[in-house]
Amino acid sequence: MRVASILGARPQFVKAAALSRAFTAAGIDERIIHTGQHYDHDMSQAFFDEFGLPTPWRNLGVGSASGPVQTGRMLVGIAESLVEAEPDVVVVPGDTNSTLAGALAAVQLGIPVAHVEAGLRSFRRDMPEERNRVVADHLAEVLYAPSEQARSWLAAEGLADRTVVVGDVMRDVVEAAGRAIRTQGDPDGDPSNLVVATVHRPANTDDPARLGAIVTALEDLAGAGLHVVLPLHPRTRAALGASLPQGLDVRDPLPHGELLSLVAGARAVVTDSGGLQKEAYWLATPCITLRAETEWVETVEEGWNVLADADGRAITSAVERAAAGHGPREAYGLPGAADRIAADLQRRMTGAG
Ligand code: UD1
Repeated sequence: MRVASILGARPQFVKAAALSRAFTAAGIDERIIHTGQHYDHDMSQAFFDEFGLPTPWRNLGVGSASGPVQTGRMLVGIAESLVEAEPDVVVVPGDTNSTLAGALAAVQLGIPVAHVEAGLRSFRRDMPEERNRVVADHLAEVLYAPSEQARSWLAAEGLADRTVVVGDVMRDVVEAAGRAIRTQGDPDGDPSNLVVATVHRPANTDDPARLGAIVTALEDLAGAGLHVVLPLHPRTRAALGASLPQGLDVRDPLPHGELLSLVAGARAVVTDSGGLQKEAYWLATPCITLRAETEWVETVEEGWNVLADADGRAITSAVERAAAGHGPREAYGLPGAADRIAADLQRRMTGAG
């Protein structure tokens, strides 16, 4: 049995770390088609090296462009690659433009699609990720959902009979990193002083008022004596230009294991990333999310996540008050989601597994 995995952006490489390992363990032949959406060393190759991912079978090198141009270039390249790769099934993780293009190219060629991390909803159609995942869910033949909440959102759209709740593949990655994660906290001082912050969504980076409010809040936290580490996504670095935040520990994008180590030892995470909200939850670190809503509603319900949007006061007070949530932190299933996906695919495609 052969799968083609369509990857392109950083969070997909993290998911692939679990999926590729599980495919190999199950004896499934995997061909990775890398769209080239992310191409900087720190955003792409570094993750292939860190996770020992198979070398992409094709790298389409599409690079950065507007959404429609980037997606269109991917569609052509993915379709041509799939004709050559001859997979039994195409696996598309996440909700990036690479996910959308991969799903569309496959269905147009009559190849079944499996969507990993299906059923997430923010109910914000102005978010590119929301549009991408809604379309991918409706194109896919099998929907691997991380939670019961995702299952019920899919059911509400008439997709219940294609849905399998497997848990979250990122949990596998955090679990695998567990042994290596040193709860290092802040090497220069009190561990309760460390704050890990990331900002990369266009809704925050491309709106000067929102970006300004977020940066000011982080500067205020640093001014109050906290050690605020801010690894910068290239989009955010470009948006900030010459006016880098004052008093913060600004870094280049970090290797995944290093980021997890910092998160595990931090007082709080401040982020607009989807993946980091879950990683903080699994590592029992309070999260403050720089959005008005989240797809990961369970993290809020269990008290591990606060939606502060771009409200400076809400951000600083949530960090000051950062406290542990409650509950077993099992909303996204137990480890092993990637193995469950590999077994289910094998059963569907070959009748085995
Ligand atoms: C994409 C995903 C988003 C995901 C994020 C993780 C979509 C619609 N969005 O957003 O869901 O959370 O990846 O990072 O697919 N750039 C570089 N080097 C790179 C890649 C990007 O400099 O290697 C810069 C370019 O200026 C580019 C900008 O970052 O225009 C944005 O890149 P883009 O491919 O649009 O996606 P992300 O914003 O990273």
